[in-house]
Amino acid sequence: MAKDTVSVTDNVTGKTIELPIYHGTLGPGAVDIGKFFREFGYVTFDPGFVSTASCRSSITYIDGEKGQLLYRGYPIEQLAEKSSFLEVAYLMLHSELPSQDEQQAFLEKITRHTMINESLKSFYQGFNHDAHPMAIMVGVVGSLSAFYHDSTDIRNPEHREIAAHRLIAKMPTIAAACYKHSIGEPFIYPQNALSYCGNLLNMMFSMPCESYEVDPVAQKALDMIFILHADHEQNASTSTIRLAGSSAANPFACVASGIAALWGPAHGGANEAVLHMLDEIGDVKNIPKFLEKAKDKEDPFRLMGFGHRIYKNFDPRATLIRKMCHEVLSKLGDENDPLFELALKLEEIALQDDYFKQRQLYPNVDFYSGIIYKVLGIPTNMFTVMFAIARTVGWVAQWMEMIGDPDQRIARPRQLYEGPVMRDYVEFSKRS
Ligand code: SDX
Repeated sequence: MAKDTVSVTDNVTGKTIELPIYHGTLGPGAVDIGKFFREFGYVTFDPGFVSTASCRSSITYIDGEKGQLLYRGYPIEQLAEKSSFLEVAYLMLHSELPSQDEQQAFLEKITRHTMINESLKSFYQGFNHDAHPMAIMVGVVGSLSAFYHDSTDIRNPEHREIAAHRLIAKMPTIAAACYKHSIGEPFIYPQNALSYCGNLLNMMFSMPCESYEVDPVAQKALDMIFILHADHEQNASTSTIRLAGSSAANPFACVASGIAALWGPAHGGANEAVLHMLDEIGDVKNIPKFLEKAKDKEDPFRLMGFGHRIYKNFDPRATLIRKMCHEVLSKLGDENDPLFELALKLEEIALQDDYFKQRQLYPNVDFYSGIIYKVLGIPTNMFTVMFAIARTVGWVAQWMEMIGDPDQRIARPRQLYEGPVMRDYVEFSKRS
C-alpha cells in the first residue's frame, strides 16, 4: 500500500486529488494515475511513454545515468564474463541462477525442442530468395501456433512453460533456415550435442557435403552477444509483446509481434543500419559531413547506433561489445579491420561534438555488434535476426511475468482527439 502521495490540482476547477506513489527496489518511484480520468475527466498525455511505467517488473533494471544494466539483480558485466546465454535464460525465467542439476535439466528441455515441424520447411519456399529474413521470421514464428495447439492455453502454467521452451529452442533453427533459404542451400538439422550458439553456427554454415567445425572463439563471442541482448526492460518490442499478450493472444503470435517491432531501424534494426551507414561513410575524412547530416533537423539521417531513451551515459553493452571486437578481430579477423577503425573514429569524433554531448548521445548496443557479426560470417540482413534470437528469452520472460501478474488486464491506451467534431453525411450531389 502506498504511503507517499502527490497532490494534483486542476486549476480550472480548483479540485485537488492525492495520487499514491509506489516505490520499487531500485529506480524512480511511480505515481499511480489510475483514478486521474475518473476524478478529473482528463487523460494523461505521454507520446512515446517517456515518463510512463506500463507495468511492475522484477526482471531487468537499467540506470540510464550510471549506464548500469542488471538482470534479476546481477550486473551485465559479471554475467557476460561468467555466465552463458542459456544460464541467463534460466535466470530470466526462474528469477534465480540455476543449480548444476537445474541447468542440466533446462538444457535438456531446450535441446528437445530445437527441431521444427517438417511441413514448416515448405513455408520458406513461398518466399523469394531475396526476402528480408526478418519478414520470414515474423511469418514463420507467427505460424508456430498452427502447429503447437498443445501449448497455447495461456492460463495453463505448463503450456506457458513449454511454449517458452519451444520459442527459445526453435528461434536458432528458424533463423538458420532463413539464411539457408536466402543462399539456396539445404536446411541443416539441429545437432543437439552442440551448444546453443554452436548449433546456430552449424545450422547456418555447415554443408551436407563437407565437415564443419564450430569455431570456439565464434561460439563464445556469439554466446556473450546473446547475453547482452537477452532483455532490456520495457523497450519497444517487449512492450509490444506485453500489449499483444494482454489480449490473451498465444505466445507464438506475441513473439511474432515483437519480432515485427524489433525490425524497425529505430530499435533492433539499427544494427543492420549501422553497417550500411559505415559503408556509406566509407572513410574517416567523411565523418564530419555525416555528423553534420545527423545534426541537421531537415535531414532525416540519424547516427545509427547512437542515442538511447534511457542511457544518458555509455550503454554498458556497447562498451562490452567494443572490447569484444578487439578480441574477436585479433583471433578471427583483421586487427586493423577498416570498418572497426572507422566506427572507433566515428565514436571518438561524435563524443567530442557539442550536439552529441549536450544531448547525452552515446553508442548503444547496436553500434558495434555488426562488426562482430560480420567477422563471424553473418550477413548484414541477418543482424536483427540475431538480436531477435537473443531477445526471445526476455520477451518470453516478460510475457510470463505479465500473464502471472494479478493486476494484468488488457492494455488499451486513450488518446487526445484532434479530429473533426460530429457532422452529417453529405450525398455526392451536394459535395463540392
Ligand atoms: C535499441 O529501448 C531500448 O532499450 C532499446 C534497446 C534494447 O535493448 O531493447 O536498447 C535496443 O533499440 C537501441 C537503439 C537503436 N536505435 C538507434 O541506434 C537509432 C538511432 N537512435 C535514435 O533514433 C534515437 O536515439 C533513439 C530512437 C534510440 C531514442 O530516441 P528518443 O529517446 O526518442 O530520443 P529523441 O529522438 O527524442 O532524441 C533526443 C534528441 C533529439 O534532438 P533535439 O530534438 O533535442 O534537438 O537527440 C537527437 C534527436 O534529434 N538524437 C539524435 C540521435 N538520437 C537522438 N540525433 C542524431 N543521431 C541520433 N542517433
